[in-house]
Amino acid sequence: MIKSRAFAYIGFAGLLLSMPAIAAAEARDPIRPAGRWTLPERKQARTPPMGWSSWNAFRTEVDEDKVMGAARKLVDSGLAKLGYVYVNVDDGWWLKRRTSDDRMQIRTRIFPSAAVKGADSSFRPFTDRLHAMGLKAGIYSDIGRNACSQAYDLHSPNLPEGTVAEREVGLLGHVDQDIALYFGEWGFDYIKVDACGINVYAPGSAIVREHDYRPVAPLIDQASVNRTDIPAVRSMYQAVAEALHKHNPDGDFVFSICAWGSADVRSWGKDIGHLWRTSGDITPVWTRMLHTFDSASTRALYAKPGAWNDPDMLFIGHGDFDAKHLTEARSHFALWAIINAPLLIGYDLRDAPQSLLDIWGNADIVAVNQDLGGHQGVIAYDSDDVQIIVKTLSGGRKAVALFNRGLAEAKVDLTAAHLKFSASAPIRLRDLWDKTVLAPFEGEKSFTLAPRQTLIFEARGEPRLGAGVYLSEIPGDINVAADGVTVPEPDPMVHRMIGQWSGTRDSGERPTYAGWGGARADATPYDQTLQIAGRRFDTGIGILAQSRLEIRNTGRRSRFEALVGVDDSTRNMQDKVRFLVYGDGRLLTRSAPVGFGDPAQPIAADIGGAKVIEIIVARESRTSDLPVVTTWGDAALR
Ligand code: GLA
Repeated sequence: MIKSRAFAYIGFAGLLLSMPAIAAAEARDPIRPAGRWTLPERKQARTPPMGWSSWNAFRTEVDEDKVMGAARKLVDSGLAKLGYVYVNVDDGWWLKRRTSDDRMQIRTRIFPSAAVKGADSSFRPFTDRLHAMGLKAGIYSDIGRNACSQAYDLHSPNLPEGTVAEREVGLLGHVDQDIALYFGEWGFDYIKVDACGINVYAPGSAIVREHDYRPVAPLIDQASVNRTDIPAVRSMYQAVAEALHKHNPDGDFVFSICAWGSADVRSWGKDIGHLWRTSGDITPVWTRMLHTFDSASTRALYAKPGAWNDPDMLFIGHGDFDAKHLTEARSHFALWAIINAPLLIGYDLRDAPQSLLDIWGNADIVAVNQDLGGHQGVIAYDSDDVQIIVKTLSGGRKAVALFNRGLAEAKVDLTAAHLKFSASAPIRLRDLWDKTVLAPFEGEKSFTLAPRQTLIFEARGEPRLGAGVYLSEIPGDINVAADGVTVPEPDPMVHRMIGQWSGTRDSGERPTYAGWGGARADATPYDQTLQIAGRRFDTGIGILAQSRLEIRNTGRRSRFEALVGVDDSTRNMQDKVRFLVYGDGRLLTRSAPVGFGDPAQPIAADIGGAKVIEIIVARESRTSDLPVVTTWGDAALR
């Protein structure tokens, strides 16, 4: 068994297996070159979605006045022109599912325009108004039978009403019917699909017993990825994606997966939705913001145009991010911008102070987020105190954020190397908060950051690689088709704050979001410095063996180069791997088999006019089940 698997890996190069055997192996083999970009091409969300959502402002106490007030303010304040166009109604809009025909009914008491005379309740007048204002409309549902509010907002005046069946407002069993209604008939453009219905309504649970819901054996256990049915969760979301394609007359839809970083969604979300939550809910507490930020900030290689990591909606305006805490509010915004997070305002915009409008309305920072390249910022310096995050912008520019996570003042030295700029040419920074242009410097420059402050700059300099580009500078052009992770493991690199619901009553927040061991830009999959046989690399791709990356050659580059090998941090020190480079499905070059301790091997290939380069690490043997950590050091297109 072990042997035949190893043969199959070599099989795609056509060496050992007979044709039918190859075909069978290929069907199963995630590292077989595809010869193309395999992610669905998406017209929507080419840049991270921007807009407003009712949840952080109103929870379930949403109503039409509040939503239309926000919509008007988006338009009147100029925010809509900057890109804030989605107006999303979150949980709380529904009345019941009518059991005669299962059609969803809107709570017209809070959405009066939905009470269409002589007809079924309809959101069409509401979406028509938003569309007439140049905005887009978003709605909310759940992948199960019941929603989150039905478990967590029990005092809400806006919970679904009626019998057990009438209160089953989620998509389970009604995917086609509901999606056809929401998109075909009502004209929505965006849907967020939550996951409480397959998580918190366990047979025998207090919520099911005391509030009379039909139980669902949980498919998600947020505390245990091992007890989560990843394929089932994934296929349920896949079914929604298919229904959206089918029932959307104008083809204009955004699909937001809200499974809170569970079920390994941080790895597969890109294949199914336009955005996927990478964590549990944000709260207006600084350390909770750190938590949700960290859940997305290490995942740059998994985001790209049409597919974004979602660390949750903005909480600017509330708690630690209110108008009295503008340093924190600005940090929250700059961080979301530079990691290509969706920018969804969560504040009652009808009475928003100018100081907050100025944050959301900072056109330069919005432009960082909305840059068409879609390259999520990559962590160039990392610590629990300070981080430096660098994002490639179009036109040879970069954005860089210097982020002080803590409560002490911090000295930060920004170097040319962080920016992958030459150390002997001037570097120019423009402060995107106060718009000052700093005196050009060479090599490095020091800054002092106030507690919790984030400075964010646009940076220009001479690229260290000249006309070439490091792969870690272009995560938006890379699809992690296979990351080599066979056993999903919780990611321990996420800030653990005091529990937002339980305080210190339990034993503390444990790592729960799978994805540990996933592909990383400029770090190993387990957050070490890239290093092969003692040679360190400040740039490259860290990835497990049995992996395949697809790289779009958008810059029409002609050569691929890297220094490759098994990373010094690997725990599997026995097995050997081979590095292979394909251009449009054709093998261009491959390394000799290499193992732990072997020096970095140069690997280079002319990629000519190839549209998609694939770089693959194949295991040559399997004497141990431990993953082999490998490094594409200095990997670049030239
Ligand atoms: C979950 C989601 C939130 C929000 C609420 C609504 O907690 O993660 O973003 O939609 O449900 O009940």
